[in-house]
Amino acid sequence: MRKTEILTLLRESGGYLSGQELCGRLGVSRTAVWKIINQLKEEGYEIEAVPNRGYRLTASPDLLGESEIRSRLRTRWAGKNLIFRQTTGSTNADAKAEAEKGAPEGTLVVAERQEAGRGRRGRQWYSPEGSNLYFTLLTRPSCEPDQACMLTLVMALAVAEAVKEQGLEAGIKWPNDIVVSGKKVCGILTEMSAEPDFIHYVVIGTGINVNQEAFPEEIAATATSLCREKGSRVSRAGLLAAVMGRFESAYARFLESRDLSGIRKDYEGLLLNKDKPVRVLDPKGEYEGIAEGINERGELLVRRRDGTTECVYAGEVSIRGIYGYV
Ligand code: BTN
Repeated sequence: MRKTEILTLLRESGGYLSGQELCGRLGVSRTAVWKIINQLKEEGYEIEAVPNRGYRLTASPDLLGESEIRSRLRTRWAGKNLIFRQTTGSTNADAKAEAEKGAPEGTLVVAERQEAGRGRRGRQWYSPEGSNLYFTLLTRPSCEPDQACMLTLVMALAVAEAVKEQGLEAGIKWPNDIVVSGKKVCGILTEMSAEPDFIHYVVIGTGINVNQEAFPEEIAATATSLCREKGSRVSRAGLLAAVMGRFESAYARFLESRDLSGIRKDYEGLLLNKDKPVRVLDPKGEYEGIAEGINERGELLVRRRDGTTECVYAGEVSIRGIYGYV
């Protein structure tokens, strides 16, 4: 797509690029370049054209389109096979359907809006258009099925790091909620298709509240957006590209050991529960303790009053902070 290539070149140059250079790099005529530049301007991009110097990208609209995303991605594999939908039911359902058809690892489904966005524990994920990110990444990890749930923590780390790049104090509420100022900005839903000893695929679905201004009453006390916390809008495509880059690096570290030992320190550095009191809602009996960190399997280490330490598995128990949301 010529549009993607021109956007990528303008972004990479950071300054002026002459019409001649653009023509040469793309192998098209000056008129063709001029037409695409005009198309981009109509979409809301601000492109300065200065005689004898060329074109310079000065501002991008907060669009979530294929060109916008592709021109920002700097990954080797994550998001290379990109599927963008203006409206869909759920990007997790789409990614699973693609996986069943044989789509490669790194396939990324992104939607501007979801009509049936799904959260954990059968909840809904509120997915209005024009302000947030809803995406699902397809992976085919070479690990055992019982190791796949760790990928949720790998994505949590990637998102928290990308949000921090925005100058926000993001943290992780174990196992995988990203929290800013005590409120949730991101949720992750991981789903897997596997045989007892073989993984067909794992899809990691992520919803990030980016530029949403207001929240429905039921979640207003516990949810916020990056824009609300930062006081200015955040580029969704830029954030998505940053998450993909961070994920690629964290995933490589995960695959080296097939556990979280390679990212554990980074994850713990962002873990809001660390050294804080937690209540573990274990079906066998609730108890309180202090969260000490995670082990290499991603389980939360909780020191009980009697001095013993429990490894809390995310699927088995739910955990509540004693003070506030975290
Ligand atoms: C949670 O409950 O915290 C998890 C929410 C996950 C929402 C994302 S949005 C993109 C992907 N598609 C879905 O239907 N759900 C996930």
